[in-house]
This record gives sequence, structure tokens and C-alpha cells, in this order.
Amino acid sequence: MIIKRISLTNFRNQSSFNLDCKKDTTLILGPNGYGKTSVLEAIYILTRGKSFRATDPDIKKRETDFYRIELTTDSGEKRVATFDGDNKVFVISDKKTRRLGKADKYPVILFLPSDLNLIGGSPSRHRDYFDRFFSQISEEYNTSLSKYEKALKQRNEILKNENMSPSSLFSWNILLAKYGTIIHRVRKELVDKINKELADTYFSIADKKDQIFLSYKTDVKNDSESEYLKTLESNLNKDVILGHTSFGVHRDDFDFIFNDKVAEGSASRGEGRTVILALKFIEARMITNLLNQKPIILLDDVFSELDETRRRFLVKNFKDNQIIITSVEKIKLDY
Ligand SMILES: Nc1ncnc2c1ncn2[C@@H]1O[C@H](COP(=O)(O)OP(=O)(O)OP(=O)(O)O)[C@@H](O)[C@H]1O
Ligand SMILES: [Mg+2]
Repeated sequence: MIIKRISLTNFRNQSSFNLDCKKDTTLILGPNGYGKTSVLEAIYILTRGKSFRATDPDIKKRETDFYRIELTTDSGEKRVATFDGDNKVFVISDKKTRRLGKADKYPVILFLPSDLNLIGGSPSRHRDYFDRFFSQISEEYNTSLSKYEKALKQRNEILKNENMSPSSLFSWNILLAKYGTIIHRVRKELVDKINKELADTYFSIADKKDQIFLSYKTDVKNDSESEYLKTLESNLNKDVILGHTSFGVHRDDFDFIFNDKVAEGSASRGEGRTVILALKFIEARMITNLLNQKPIILLDDVFSELDETRRRFLVKNFKDNQIIITSVEKIKLDY
């Protein structure tokens, strides 16, 4: 898919905004608060189904009744999303739907300024990052994750109730064990895949031999659903006291190991950024190979944070993809 034009109505601060995109690289230039990230957000909603930073009521322009976003592609496909204050409806090539199914989604690689600090982030930020990554690659992961999160929420609600009976947890335990085991397995498999490429990709950007790998940290011991269930149940007393679920993949973390040490505190800021850049390339490569679709690259304000070598690398590496970049200052793109 190549985006030809994107139009926003009552979206964030914009009453009406249109952008014609180029096949290769489009630059959205504007001061802080202009609405640059919002344009990427609209593209993200129309390709992935929901925003990467907010829910629809926050996105709709204040004091208006609805928002509408529209995207047309090179091949004439039209995608529309409208939100009326309560519900969002997509129209994808004249077909109406409430959520984007697998076939309606299109892969994007989103690069946010906060990604550059991912290495030092909290476990929940690490999980969010890899969840987004893995959900694009594996539909099994995507659906298991959303079912797991729903079940977890329900179980935690029950645990907060002082008069709850343990038997009321049973059906949620079963679901958590089922989907938690899948999530654990896919995380393990994909981290292994990433690690096969990480050191070489890092080297190709940094031109410096460092040992780098991603470590998946989890309390889940193996791929056995029944063992997962047993551990979950054995933590019941603890969970009742805490009022939430203490065991499971929602507590996993991902660490970057740099020359045998946790990267946070040992890798320099620049080295950390190179690791993230390498990760983005791996993500793009995996998506291209697995889905046979070229992801759209959305770069939000990250250019100013990278040095010349890394900027050049970024543009060159994505030369076959459509890239949409936001920036507050003019940037050189003809590498
Ligand atoms: N629901 C809303 N209604 C009206 N305005 C909003 C709404 N949500 C956000 N805004 C405003 O819209 C503007 C655009 O936000 P956006 O994040 O897209 O800006 P930006 O150009 O990316 O800025 P920066 O360069 O600081 O990243 C901001 O001024 C924000 O306060
Ligand atoms: Mg912005």
C-alpha cells in the first residue's frame, strides 16, 4: 500500500486538514502543537485499527460531535474511520466494519521519540513495545493478548472483592493459562528470531563489534498450560491479599544485554539508539518477509535525535518503503 492522500476532520486540533503524500518520503514540517503527530496517529488508526497514544474521545476535536479520517491509496483503495462520540466505524473499500480484521490491517513501523529511550524504560513500556511489534507479526499473538488482557481484568476485579469465592476465579484461571501459554511461547520464539539478527544488524549501523542481545525475562517455566494453571492457583492466597494477579505473562520483561551487562547503565545513549534502530530494521524485515507487504514507515520527530550516520542509514535502509516523517525543523533527506 502506498498512501496517496490523508484527510482529517475534527481530529485533535485540526478542523480540516489534507496531506498529499509522496511515494517515497513525505515530510510534515511544523512547529510544536501544529498537529504533526496527529497525522501519523490518523494513518495508524486507518491501518492498525486504533491509536498508539489515546482513545477516541480524547482524539475528537474538543467541542465537536464527531471526527472523520480518510486515506486513499495509489491503487484507488479508500479507507475511512468516523467516530461519533460513542462508536467508531470503519469503511474499508466500501465495506463497513467496527474493527479492523486481519485482512483489513496494513503493517506500519512506528518510530516515536520515546522509543529512543526504550532501553531504560520500565517493564510495562518494554512489554507494550514488543506487544505492538509481535501483534503485527503474529495474529495468534494479537488475539491471545487481547483475550488474556480481558480475562486478567476480570480476575483482578474479582480479587478486589472482599467476599469473593475462589471458585469464581476458575474460568478466568483457565483462560489465563490458555492464552498466557501461547503468549509465552510466541515471545520466546520471536525473541530468538530477533537475536539471530540483532548483533549483525547493530554492527552494520555502528560498525563496531559489540555483543548485543535481547533477554526475555519471565516467571513462566515452560509451554505447559496445566503447569501455568497450577502456578496461578498456588498463588491464590497472595493474590487475595494483593488484590491482583501476581503470576503471569503480564509481569514479563525484556532486557537488552550489551557486552554481557544490562544495557541500561552500560551502553551509551548513542549505542542505545543504535540498538533501537537495529530493532526497527529487524521488525521491518520480519514483517516484509512474513506478510509479504512493505510496511509504511512513520517517523515521529526522531530525526533530530539521531546523528548524521544514523539518519543516512535510516533513509537508505527504508528506501523501498513509503516513509512519512514529522519534524519541527528542515531536514536533509537526499542521502
Ligand atoms: N481533542 C483535542 N481537541 C483539540 N485539540 C487537541 C486535542 N487533542 C490534542 N489537541 C492539541 O492538538 C495539538 C496537536 O497535537 P500533536 O501532538 O499532533 O502536535 P505536534 O505537531 O506533533 O507537536 P510536537 O511538535 O510538540 O510533537 C496540540 O496542541 C494538542 O494540545
Ligand atoms: Mg509530535
